[in-house]
Amino acid sequence: MIRPAELIERKRNGEELQAGEIGELVLGYTRGAIPDYQLAAFCMAVYFRGMTAAETFALTEAMIRSGRTLDLGSALGRKVVDKHSTGGVGDKTTIAVGPIVAACGVPVGKMSGRGLGHTGGTLDKLESIPGFRVDLSAEAFVAQVRDVGLAIVGQSDDLVPADKQLYGLRDVTATVDILPLIASSIMSKKIAGGADAIVLDVKVGDGAFMKTLDEARALAETMLALGEEAGREVVCLLTDMDQPLGAAVGNALEIAEARETVRGDGPTDFTELVLDACARLLSLSDLGVDVPEGRRRAEGVVADGSALALYERWIRAQGGDPDPGALPRAPVVRELRSPSSGYVARLGAIAVGHAALHLGAGRRAKGDEIDPAVGVVCRAKRGARVAGGDLLAEIHARDEEQARTAAAEVLSAYELAEAPPDERPLLLDVVA
Ligand code: URA
Repeated sequence: MIRPAELIERKRNGEELQAGEIGELVLGYTRGAIPDYQLAAFCMAVYFRGMTAAETFALTEAMIRSGRTLDLGSALGRKVVDKHSTGGVGDKTTIAVGPIVAACGVPVGKMSGRGLGHTGGTLDKLESIPGFRVDLSAEAFVAQVRDVGLAIVGQSDDLVPADKQLYGLRDVTATVDILPLIASSIMSKKIAGGADAIVLDVKVGDGAFMKTLDEARALAETMLALGEEAGREVVCLLTDMDQPLGAAVGNALEIAEARETVRGDGPTDFTELVLDACARLLSLSDLGVDVPEGRRRAEGVVADGSALALYERWIRAQGGDPDPGALPRAPVVRELRSPSSGYVARLGAIAVGHAALHLGAGRRAKGDEIDPAVGVVCRAKRGARVAGGDLLAEIHARDEEQARTAAAEVLSAYELAEAPPDERPLLLDVVA
């Protein structure tokens, strides 16, 4: 039997732990035999000391062993592809990618998470759709992927339960942005969920867990190695998160924007990322197409309306109303106008994320209620030329006072300059 306090001490002192020790720690925690405070201390020790490749693999394996695994591929008789984002401000990519890829004939079955840190999770966003259910049984999940082509559900209690517990604990103990913990959290879910090939969107910048390209590359390489050890194909896109993705930040606002993008009317940067991710997923699927052909097919289903039709079928299949008019609306919408003229040199993602969080769009503590209607819509992004009085952003709030406070926060996210800023591409690198 391990003594958790001793493992915490050894990790704190920089020792490498044995695979069996890590396994017992994780499985003991999942059984309730090891309390939250010891796992929190362990995570903090990992923050300062890191984990070796062997420790990270042992952690991932233990997380997978903490519950059951799914074999979606056998159930469908198809190669299964999946995508995951490390999370960022305004990141609603999955909600647009799912219907487009499914409309191209590749089934998508995804398990998603809730908000972590300053970001809102895919499930929170989907639950802003009236009636939408994320708690399908494993059987209903597989049946829906087979019949509709797409299902996005909550991580079921029996699939990687260790991650579910740890995810919530890390969120409130400042232990989210730790490379081996992020890598094992993501990869354990992808592997246990049965994906044969995985596209990972690793966010880089102010609004992401990984602030620099080097850190993001290190995370991508760790996840690639974990995938390879488990016999899965992995491609990592490293993408910019220095400013919010698209315009909308906030649950129902992001659903509306994802739907517009599936219909072909989304913001340029977000549309570009969505189509890129779709192209990669299609190239890894059993369709036997390369990335450029994947891109053509993704553009095709957006243009001919079949992606939107699939979106609507999917939302209805999970009990939701796909009409954007049914989404909840905030009682107060305040316009934020530019105090002067110039080019938007910077739009800090984290400040916008915090404004949305303070409006009620995210969680400050485990179990907090989310307000689905509130958030921020950034109408001017980096590179835009604005005159004094032009619209910068809209604040969707519960009341005037919250709107005023959020407007001040969002204004502080904007930096105007006389000259246009250097171009920063959205896709920074690909690690494969
Ligand atoms: N996304 C996850 O699924 N896990 C993490 O730890 C961070 C982001």
